[in-house]
Amino acid sequence: MTTFMPPLALRTQTPVAWAEAALADPEALLSDHAHCEKKAALTALNLARHLGDMAHASGLLAKLADEELDHYRRVLEGLQGFGWTLLPDRGNHYAQALHRLASKGLLDQLLIAAIIEARSCERLWLLEQAAQVHPTLGCAPWLAFLLELEHCEAGHAQIYRRLAEERHGREVAQQRLDWWLDREAETIRDQPWKSAVH
Ligand SMILES: [Fe+2]
Ligand SMILES: [Fe+2]
Repeated sequence: MTTFMPPLALRTQTPVAWAEAALADPEALLSDHAHCEKKAALTALNLARHLGDMAHASGLLAKLADEELDHYRRVLEGLQGFGWTLLPDRGNHYAQALHRLASKGLLDQLLIAAIIEARSCERLWLLEQAAQVHPTLGCAPWLAFLLELEHCEAGHAQIYRRLAEERHGREVAQQRLDWWLDREAETIRDQPWKSAVH
């Protein structure tokens, strides 16, 4: 197994056994992930509305949203390729729990986005490791896609963090990120394991 380098210093590691639980129902896992990618695109566009005075932010977030939409389309194609259908959105309780803890401010929204991307990246990495020996998902094109997603989501975490620092100052953003990393560790530990990235 290769080593995982998280884009942010997450404060709790997901146990390796989580990936096997998540892969118990690959159709549900991929369906959930398709919904997550669509929401990630919407998040980027929504945050761009609040950073309209930062020209480079608009460009970065437009590209980010474009990448999330591409992921969404490709996860849908993946579902179709396996002969599965997109199941209804069951909601993302992890993201909802984080947003319940947030103020309405932009800093929290940017940092939550950064942390969700970082956690997704960690879990995609675990899935990629487990999928290599999975009877259905262990085919090369799908594994290559998971690896690509990991790299992309790591870049997204860095973009959101950088935008938080540029808008709110490095020290303020770092202090709040420290607080969020603790809250995220508590939140993710409370989540039941299911066929979803989180
Ligand atoms: Fe994505
Ligand atoms: Fe992303």
